[in-house]
Amino acid sequence: MRIRDGIDRKIDQLLFALMQNMTIAVSGEKLAQDLGVSHSALARWIDKLRQARVEIRGELFTGYRLTKVPDVLLPQLLRPRLRTKRLAQNLYHFYSVDSTNAFALRLLGRQQDVPDGGLVLAESQTAGRGRLGRSWHSEPASGLYLSLILKPEIPPTLAPLLTLGCAVALHNAVEKSTRLDVDIKWPNDLLIGGKKIAGILAEIQADLDRLHFLVIGVGLNVNHIELPSDLADRATSLRIASGQSASRIEILVDFLEEFEGLLDRFQARGPGVIVSEWSRHSSFADGRQVEIADGMRVVKGVTRGLNPIGALRVETEDHRIEEIYSGEVRNWK
Ligand code: BTN
Repeated sequence: MRIRDGIDRKIDQLLFALMQNMTIAVSGEKLAQDLGVSHSALARWIDKLRQARVEIRGELFTGYRLTKVPDVLLPQLLRPRLRTKRLAQNLYHFYSVDSTNAFALRLLGRQQDVPDGGLVLAESQTAGRGRLGRSWHSEPASGLYLSLILKPEIPPTLAPLLTLGCAVALHNAVEKSTRLDVDIKWPNDLLIGGKKIAGILAEIQADLDRLHFLVIGVGLNVNHIELPSDLADRATSLRIASGQSASRIEILVDFLEEFEGLLDRFQARGPGVIVSEWSRHSSFADGRQVEIADGMRVVKGVTRGLNPIGALRVETEDHRIEEIYSGEVRNWK
């Protein structure tokens, strides 16, 4: 893992070198020499960039040239644009990884001192994980696939609130950059026109009374031109919804700033901040007829807001209020 991370950093340098010479072909010989690698390693890395949809013309002996400004979340491009102090000070960028959540968890398992706020980013995932044991479709360079490592000093019972907060931050960032109307389905799916554009998967390690860390994974469908047929009726992308491509880096930078601001307000003023901001942006907060399977039972009724720690309150047909802590919400009736 350490080695693969190292190679990805080298590929970042290769891409950065190509970007600084956008209009001219750079000799493969010189690139290999500057990066201190063999010709065959250089050719492999160029292939890897092409797999990540970076358009490169040429070959080792003619030299390489980018034919389009690449949309890659290079740390070298991201860092100068970041406006956050806590989030993303530590960046891990992959062209391809099994799952950014899995990488973050491995890192946390190996190292005691992983700092709070670390951000893992991937251009594509080979085993992207979704909620409830599902997988996450992670097409190269089309979406945002990221995981944030958080070590907040809060009791484990408040951890789900942070995922609601993450959904609010993503909602705000997407609305700002696309002007599309985005809804939040409890707990943290983002929808446009009833179709899913983003999902959040939080994985935590905690004792009964102490949260050690939280890995919040975010998948956002940005520039997918189409989605696989088994997803197309319930999922969409910003590009499909708006007819225009969106800047992944811009959404990412805005999202991080929004989330950091919300985490600061949460720390200063408590859970009510997240509960009220989430409720303001979700059509599911109040008065929606829903059916929720929480793993043990299916609850049907009308939503009646969130409780103080983010559970969904549902009024059943016999007028009892059930508080739902996890599960899958479906429209009912
Ligand atoms: C859901 O099922 O709605 C949650 C999907 C979360 C997907 C993201 S993509 C980045 C991060 N790494 C993963 O393996 N999953 C999350």
